[in-house]
Amino acid sequence: MKTIIEPFRIKSVERIRETTREERQRLIAAAGYNLFLVPADAILIDLLTDSGTSAMSTEQWAAMMRGDESYAGSSSFDRFRRSVQDIFGFRHVIPTHQGRAAERILFTVMCKKGDVVPNNTHFDTTRANCEFVGAEALDLPIAEALEPAALHPFKGNMDTARLAETIERLGAKRIPLVMLTVTNNSGGGQPVSMANIRAVKAICAKHGIPLYIDACRFAENSWFIKLREPGYADKTPRAIAQEMFSLADGCTMSAKKDGLANIGGFLCTNDDLLAQQEKDLLILTEGFPTYGGLAGRDLEAIAVGLNEALEEDYLKYRIASTGFLGNHIAAAGVPIVQPPGGHAIYLDARAFLPHIPPAQFPGVALAIELYLAGGIRSVEIGTLMFGEHARMDLVRLAIPRRVYTQSHIEYVVEVILDVWKRRESLRGYDLTYQAPFLRHFTARLQPRAG
Ligand code: F0G
Repeated sequence: MKTIIEPFRIKSVERIRETTREERQRLIAAAGYNLFLVPADAILIDLLTDSGTSAMSTEQWAAMMRGDESYAGSSSFDRFRRSVQDIFGFRHVIPTHQGRAAERILFTVMCKKGDVVPNNTHFDTTRANCEFVGAEALDLPIAEALEPAALHPFKGNMDTARLAETIERLGAKRIPLVMLTVTNNSGGGQPVSMANIRAVKAICAKHGIPLYIDACRFAENSWFIKLREPGYADKTPRAIAQEMFSLADGCTMSAKKDGLANIGGFLCTNDDLLAQQEKDLLILTEGFPTYGGLAGRDLEAIAVGLNEALEEDYLKYRIASTGFLGNHIAAAGVPIVQPPGGHAIYLDARAFLPHIPPAQFPGVALAIELYLAGGIRSVEIGTLMFGEHARMDLVRLAIPRRVYTQSHIEYVVEVILDVWKRRESLRGYDLTYQAPFLRHFTARLQPRAG
């Protein structure tokens, strides 16, 4: 059959509530025009993030009942470690409460002031944790990544010529590690090819620099490699993931994405000395190395979820669903980051609203109108999130895993096309409050008089 279906049926449902445009107008004004500050029960379709929002399977819930809550030596940790090592292959597996905790420990142990950490594109918490220890977070995406409309099968790739040039110029001593984010979230959920990972590893190896993978969406990246990279069509997503990680020296992971869990993460390394230092730091803030800030039942949910995320029928439906959203709005002329990414569709707000300059937050204006029009919550990834570093103003529609059905996605298409028709009437915003870092979470804004 040609129709791609959700490879699951629904056993437990969660009610979602419709509100009127007037109610939403009041709610968003009370939230200082920041969608992070709107109560979740006033959202109809929540596409704020694909992180921690997955629906768990019956197998995950069943495994959670087996959770061993022993402080030390929990058997849940053994199952978690086995599951991680089977896919990721690294010698040391250090559990953390989520991805950014792994990042903080990694950068604290490996970086010092004046160091530089290249990445295809640092995610916002990765950048912030890197800068917090005084190192510079350097983005080296390929040129196509910065052109939303440009088509490239692996738009998440790192620019290897610039990486080599950067290492030659700064010297390897100032670069304690190189990172690759799969898929490249801030760059549009775009995949990195195996050839690119291999090329980056070769450059790193030549200079003795370790390569770490930010592995949040490793299963989706593996699926894109299977679909698009010559030589991988007959390999399983698991075998592809194993090959990807065999090229790296370690990884950071947020299990809230392709771990299909609601909380959790881990840090892996092959380096015994680093692992010891990382575990020492872990005990200080996260917990004993056999739980790292997680309950035994969380470790169980992740152990099962990592494997479910690699199932072919799941990945086929997942990537088709995201593609359906992207392709249907693009066909009507809506500017999106092309081609559709793995976990999200990114609207190009600068092209959608060319009459609103970046300093007036076109991404914020678009995200707010999607909420007012249809109760949809999305997130700005642009000038509000990155300040003057922002090279694009995007609105991300991130799709939670196994949560929404095809008719929900069709509704989202309808709302976006409605706003597209009225785009010239949208106005920009002014910032009235900002925190010193990660300002988008708590910023307050107001609409500009029109
Ligand atoms: N790296 C990437 C590529 C991410 O997308 C995220 C989180 C993290 C690291 C940090 O992981 O949230 O578990 O601490 N991204 C979420 C998002 C928040 O909405 O894209 P975390």
